[in-house]
Amino acid sequence: MSSPASDRKAARDAAARAVRLRERLEHHARAYYVHDAPEIPDAEYDALFQELQAIEAEHPELVSADSPTQRVIGAVLEGLEPVRHAVPMLSIDTETDTSAAGAGKFDARIRKALGLGDDDPPVAYAAEMKFDGLAINLRYEGGALVQAATRGDGETGEDVTHTVRTIAAVPKRLKGIAAPVLEVRGEVFMRLDDFAALNERQRKLIEGGAKNEKVFVNPRNAAAGVVRQLDAANAAKRPLSFFAYGFGEVEGWTVPPTQTDLLDAFDKMGLPASPLHERVEGAAGLVAFHARIAVRREKLPYEIDGVVYKVDDRALQDRLGFKSREPRWAVAQKYPAQERTTRLNDIEIQVGRTGKLTPVAKLEPVFVGGTTVSNATLHNLFEVRRKGVRVGDTVIVRRAGDVIPEVVGRVAARRPTYVPNFRMPRECPVCGSRVAREKGGVDHRCTGGLFCAAQRKFAILHFAGRRALDIEGLGEKIVDQLVDAGVVASLPDLYALTKEQLEAFERMGDKSAASLVANLAASRKTTFARFLYGLGIRHVGETTAKDLARHFGGIERLRRADTARLLEVPDVGPIVAESIHDFFAEAHNQQVIDALLAAGFEWPESEGEADKSPKPLAGKTFVLTGTLPTLTREDAKEMIESLGGKVAGSVSTKTDYVVAGAEAGSKLQKAEALGVALLDEAGLLALLDGA
Ligand code: IVH
Repeated sequence: MSSPASDRKAARDAAARAVRLRERLEHHARAYYVHDAPEIPDAEYDALFQELQAIEAEHPELVSADSPTQRVIGAVLEGLEPVRHAVPMLSIDTETDTSAAGAGKFDARIRKALGLGDDDPPVAYAAEMKFDGLAINLRYEGGALVQAATRGDGETGEDVTHTVRTIAAVPKRLKGIAAPVLEVRGEVFMRLDDFAALNERQRKLIEGGAKNEKVFVNPRNAAAGVVRQLDAANAAKRPLSFFAYGFGEVEGWTVPPTQTDLLDAFDKMGLPASPLHERVEGAAGLVAFHARIAVRREKLPYEIDGVVYKVDDRALQDRLGFKSREPRWAVAQKYPAQERTTRLNDIEIQVGRTGKLTPVAKLEPVFVGGTTVSNATLHNLFEVRRKGVRVGDTVIVRRAGDVIPEVVGRVAARRPTYVPNFRMPRECPVCGSRVAREKGGVDHRCTGGLFCAAQRKFAILHFAGRRALDIEGLGEKIVDQLVDAGVVASLPDLYALTKEQLEAFERMGDKSAASLVANLAASRKTTFARFLYGLGIRHVGETTAKDLARHFGGIERLRRADTARLLEVPDVGPIVAESIHDFFAEAHNQQVIDALLAAGFEWPESEGEADKSPKPLAGKTFVLTGTLPTLTREDAKEMIESLGGKVAGSVSTKTDYVVAGAEAGSKLQKAEALGVALLDEAGLLALLDGA
């Protein structure tokens, strides 16, 4: 029922809502355009925008000249010079109906505006990508690039000539044209691979303590951030790309008669236009194009948020003209959002096979980028802190291309009352062992490597490995089965296995079961160094295991050593010492070691005293490269180490000898460049003999 009173109330409500919407749109547009740091996903911004448009359509008296629907929001960043555009830079109308019908509606509007009837031929369109970057006006005078500017509010943009000049795809000089003025418009964007590499670098800088660096939310913001840098040298390190799609002021050049011809002309001038544009006919042509690109979109090396349809013929464009913010002859049709908001229900901890604890976001399932996402990794504690997300928050989830889904941040305004900050557990959620973080590292790890169920398979395979206890026949397949069946929970259980038990498993014949039991029994006669290496203590590789074995001589002294004692071992630094100490400080690990010793492990007592044997190669560093005629790399390494030498992985000025075999590569070249002494196998054997 409508009465004058209720109409008045409705009008008042609409007016109040419009004011509120304008405020919010202003705020979010500033966050997006000025600070390159959006707080809500694009789809949500679009929804607010459309709500305001709908109110204004119903209540035309509420439309004001400064409404975001009537002008392009954007402002000039402090420090960049304003540039007044000779021809305003407009925006494009968005068709939100992402189905085939959306394209049909646009075509119907165009036909109506042009007065075309059912019998008239289809309208030809230029169909293009809607690149997700930032619009740039390039001003060429006499064929030379003289200025580059952002769109800004459409009337006034920012002078970004200094950074745009560093973009390889933007020619400094046009080919075959020297018109007094040619303004080219197009999109500066960042390819997905460049974006991933940039953020990787940013993450490292931040982890390294850099204060003024940030990780970018998406390629668009990264591109905008780079272009709007004050420092061009900084921008040059961050690769951007460019595609041309339109023009601004032109003097002394005849603009080609169609959009398709314009793009071809750009290509000839050395201005890249995306090769994916097509000239299509009528609604059917648009729909087919939209569908073709929908399939390719995931695999494109850059992001698009939709496609753009433009009436191809310039004369028709002129007849259609402009509305206040956008031309009537163009429309953008989007694809389903690749960003969505949803609720962060919980943060769970996953323990990886190497003991790394990973916080995983448990999300209210949300359909984004073509799949339903309910989990997303948060990587580590510092990523959770950087993103500022807490349980209960409304978060932005993003899935673009083949990239795994990620939580990019939270919707700032929507935190429900007080929620405590996320913390890493002090104890492993799987086994209860102590959790530790390395000095300067970002990862938290469970220290119960030998005991933790999450790390079981990994620990057993490592223990059985060739360089550790070298237990032939104990590979991934049987370890999987033994652990999954609950027969083996920890290393000592291996030594209680019987032939009959093993035979019950897949692909375990009578013979292989017998030989595995025999190999297990034999593995107990080993060296202290191999045993130690086999425990899989983080940072204790073969060489460190040997150093430790030599230094401590036996397990009893080592397992009780404090960090100060550990630091006395040559080449053991604070991080390694801490890791060893943490490992033995965990009672669970000690229990496993006791059980292993009880299973009958033994090694030559004298190992600890090997220290006192002559070490003629002490202090000498060798690098092995290529294939030696008779010695394996392992053999050569062992021989060198037995005489006190060290074998390193890469050549440096500290290298004393490079031992090169067949097909030696860059290490040999580096050795030659540094003037390091070169040996072949015969030379090495002679040296060892002499020593
Ligand atoms: S033509 C008069 N073509 O979309 C029409 N714009 O929302 C002016 N964009 O600011 C734009 N791809 O940043 C055009 N192939 C394309 C585009 C494109 C992306 C962006 C551009 C513009 C915004 C409008």
